[in-house]
Amino acid sequence: MVRRKKVYEGKAKILYEGPEPGTLVQYFKDDATAFNAEKRATIEGKGVLNNRLSEYFMTGLGNIGVPTHFIRRLNMREQLIRSVEIIPLEVVVRNIAAGSLSKRLGIDEGTPLPRPIVEFYFKDDALGDPLVSEEHIIAFGWATQQDLDDMVALALRVNDFLSGLMLGVGIKLVDFKIEIGRVFDGDYQRLIVADEISPDSCRLWDVATGRKLDKDVFRRDLGDLADAYTEVANRLGLMPKNKSTTGPKLVN
Ligand code: TMP
Repeated sequence: MVRRKKVYEGKAKILYEGPEPGTLVQYFKDDATAFNAEKRATIEGKGVLNNRLSEYFMTGLGNIGVPTHFIRRLNMREQLIRSVEIIPLEVVVRNIAAGSLSKRLGIDEGTPLPRPIVEFYFKDDALGDPLVSEEHIIAFGWATQQDLDDMVALALRVNDFLSGLMLGVGIKLVDFKIEIGRVFDGDYQRLIVADEISPDSCRLWDVATGRKLDKDVFRRDLGDLADAYTEVANRLGLMPKNKSTTGPKLVN
């Protein structure tokens, strides 16, 4: 048996060398962390759920022409992805005030925002991923003005797609985070959506009850995290026991 090479291990995922050059295998762990890993737990089944959910969201994005790193799912916990050069920024889009925006600006959680707000956080665990402005990003060379324009456009397309998809199954997309990577096609650089899109990186509220169906359940000790993620997967028609369903169960 040949042991495969681990390329990177993060808090919730491991990246292994892929079968072909330019590919990686992304493994979803059951580990959950919050507050820069001050709070930790293992949530049985979370990795399987996030692997499936991220596949579903990335595939849907690909189908509407938004480029992503996703190639195909390999098994319950792993997917084959394109290797990218990750831009060291977390791109957050917010539709409704919550979390750090509410805290920083004193806006009640749940207040609808006048327009989607795009924010950038510098990916640096030692600094606690600080909020940065476009000025910082360009001055320190993390991305160019052209990259920033492309990143905002990508993030807003992801927002429109995910908001509509979630609303169709009775869930409000409050906010989410994506990471973006560079790929090179010949002489040209393109930016594509990378990392994962899952309830770990989104805020999802049930329209009817306001129930939280995302990682805030863990951050704020609101109940069983796997139950919340299973509810999202169920509504989207992704759970194996729903063999009769062919897709999302739309609500009126
Ligand atoms: P925030 O309100 O804590 O800034 O989070 C905004 C969104 O980003 C929310 O959907 C959760 C997500 N997020 C991550 O995916 N990773 C993180 O490390 C943080 C802080 C937030």
